[in-house]
Amino acid sequence: MPDKATLKIGDKTIDLPVVQGSEEEVALDIRHLRAETGAITYDPGYANTGSCKSDITFIDGEKGILRYCGYPIEQLAERSSFLEVCSLLLNGELPNGDELQAFQRSVSRHTMLHEDVNRFYRALPKDAHPMAVCSTVVAALSTFYPHLHDLGSPERTQSAIIRLIAKLPTIAALCFKHSKGQPAIYPDNDLDYSSNFLRMMFATPCESYEPDPVIAKAVDQLLVLHADHEQNCSTSAVRLVGSSRPHLFACIAAGIGALWGPLHGGANQKVIEMLERIEREEGSAAKFVARAKDKGDSARLMGFGHRVYKNYDPRAKILRKTAIEVLDKLGVKSRLLDIGMDLEEVALNDPYFIERKLYPNVDFYSGIIYKAIGIPVPMFTVLFAMGRLPGWIAQWVEMHHQDDFRIGRPRQVYTGPTLRDYVSIEDR
Ligand code: SDX
Repeated sequence: MPDKATLKIGDKTIDLPVVQGSEEEVALDIRHLRAETGAITYDPGYANTGSCKSDITFIDGEKGILRYCGYPIEQLAERSSFLEVCSLLLNGELPNGDELQAFQRSVSRHTMLHEDVNRFYRALPKDAHPMAVCSTVVAALSTFYPHLHDLGSPERTQSAIIRLIAKLPTIAALCFKHSKGQPAIYPDNDLDYSSNFLRMMFATPCESYEPDPVIAKAVDQLLVLHADHEQNCSTSAVRLVGSSRPHLFACIAAGIGALWGPLHGGANQKVIEMLERIEREEGSAAKFVARAKDKGDSARLMGFGHRVYKNYDPRAKILRKTAIEVLDKLGVKSRLLDIGMDLEEVALNDPYFIERKLYPNVDFYSGIIYKAIGIPVPMFTVLFAMGRLPGWIAQWVEMHHQDDFRIGRPRQVYTGPTLRDYVSIEDR
């Protein structure tokens, strides 16, 4: 690969240095383009634009490869745990036994919320969307830890990181309890991360509750699979907000907002609504696929397609298998899973989807598992946020340590009115 590209624009010819990644990816360094030519690049949606260098997650969209710090997602999903993956993403290396135990202990010691946080829930409608509640409470959490806003202190930043990872499940479960009018269930620090979350969600003070290990393992794997995904929309939002150097809580609240969108993390909720609608109305996958292909019809095959994967999303492959296994172990028959697999079969053999390289993505099967284990549909994207939290944080930390760190401020191509004088209202 040459070490530079040559760009000729008008009477100017400039060299653009070539940047090469550790997986042979190639980028053109355009940092001096405007200064040397007066021109900028134009790339709506940034499909061709690298916003940063990163050591954290590698995706090969053509081959359907996903690795966290070099480890294949298939191996992590099979053999790791969510808190071990959190430690991997935050430190770049798998923890040894003592390191993992210390990390688990530090997280479990911060799972409780300040009692005054409950007031925020009471101030919101019971049917408030859990993503709105979570972003509100995460942003408000910063007011309880003003001493952790200091980005200059690694110890205080680490303390903010631990508190967010520890408290998001508690915040999420409290959303559900508040919506049901049930009392909060306090964390039980003797339980593992995912079992503790299930207990806070589904236990009540009136009877004993034992989290089902099959369900806890499925939740833990779902969190692992969602933990990071390089520069997706919400991670880019965390980085962009973070580039003006507010505290971490503000950046994570922004990430939750970006993730909520139906084209991003909100798709897992839309997939279930789509499958339920097919079950209720169309009844056949083929009819719905026809609608998804029709430009005149707003219907999209939610959970299908991806900006980067032009092959089967490796996470969807794992979740398809997990969905079948978990439902089988729980003895749950899911009509939605049958419809989902029919939909996949029809779409993967349809030229429209083949030509556009549209395959199932992480959201296609995750909702079917969430529903089967009793997670209410509006909470699906909250579980996505719980999984993605360590990825957002790891990318935010990496950004602050990069030598080319600067505030994000894209340019534009102006297409509005050219110079004109103000006209007084009598003359308009
Ligand atoms: C996530 O970026 C990440 O990494 C995200 C994520 C992560 O882990 O962070 O992987 C998580 O957000 C997964 C994506 C979840 N969203 C959905 O499932 C929503 C449905 N999918 C799409 O809306 C779409 O595929 C996107 C948003 C995911 C990607 O959009 P792009 O890359 O901008 O592609 P596009 O909209 O330009 O589509 C290209 C073509 C178009 O047709 P033509 O104009 O070429 O004729 O494909 C069509 C689209 O109409 N198309 C679909 C489709 N997705 C794309 N047609 C029907 N159904 C779909 N789902």
